[in-house]
Amino acid sequence: MKFVITVSVGFLASGLPLCSAWGDMGHETVAYIASNFVTTATKTHFQKILADTTTDYLAAVATYADTYRYTSAGLYSKPYHFIDANDNPPTSCGVDYSRDCGTGGCVVSAIKNYTARVQSSSLSAANVAQAAKMVVHFIGDIHQPLHDENLDVGGNDIDVTFNGVSTNLHHIWDTNMPELYAGGSTLAVAKKWATTLTTAIKTGTYSSDAADWLTGIDITDPVSSAMIWAQDSNAFVCSTVMPNGVSAVENVDLAGAYYTAAMPIIEEQIAKAGYRLAAWLNLIATGSTGL
Ligand SMILES: *[C@@H]1O[C@H](CO)[C@@H](O)[C@H](O)[C@H]1NC(C)=O
Ligand SMILES: [Zn+2]
Repeated sequence: MKFVITVSVGFLASGLPLCSAWGDMGHETVAYIASNFVTTATKTHFQKILADTTTDYLAAVATYADTYRYTSAGLYSKPYHFIDANDNPPTSCGVDYSRDCGTGGCVVSAIKNYTARVQSSSLSAANVAQAAKMVVHFIGDIHQPLHDENLDVGGNDIDVTFNGVSTNLHHIWDTNMPELYAGGSTLAVAKKWATTLTTAIKTGTYSSDAADWLTGIDITDPVSSAMIWAQDSNAFVCSTVMPNGVSAVENVDLAGAYYTAAMPIIEEQIAKAGYRLAAWLNLIATGSTGL
């Protein structure tokens, strides 16, 4: 496991993954938030599946899927990280499962598949553990608005700069903006940000919204559940990611007013992802959201 994490960090450092969704730190923050909201029974259940009794049992596997997709055995899983909404931002946003989930699958079908596999009593322990890692990762991915968008390869083909560094729109949502705000890319930064967001959910900014975040969640209908999350996330493509169209962001440095407007949405999406992941893991382990 140490080896896998090291490889993943190496990939990010060299800027190779084009659409990994939240960088490692974002995924780990989502996982730590979920760890803070799962029940004791859920924690025991997943620590056993993942053969890890540390408090980092979810965060340690949160980026596995981004490493796996770059292995020859895992190439088939590349489409599982996103759903390519063929909508028309900023005029109209919207995701349609039958239109947008390709024949190779998408993040919504992947959540369905791995939710079934993690509950299987016939698969090998290794396959069940892999399914748990996939669920932790893909519930993170679906909350990054540009992972629910087809335009310009989810913004990967929209060149921008960020504090003078050449990058692309997708990448600043995954990595540059969250890391600038949270103060780095390490596991310790993720843990600290997760602690702040956990308090915001329990007693702060999000305490009156959190119950609504679970509207429609149904473990017997993973596609409908995940489509609610995808729609919710994709709407931010029109309102926040490119409210004035592509030309307003292309080749622009977005570290100023754009970053200031985007950051509250990024924080809310990370918080939501962690809370919904906790509910989903509780449903898998105990049959109720526990929240
Ligand atoms: C479900 O996951 C398994 C293991 O990764 C994969 O082999 C299979 O193709 C997936 N099925 C669907 C329908 O996504
Ligand atoms: Zn991903």
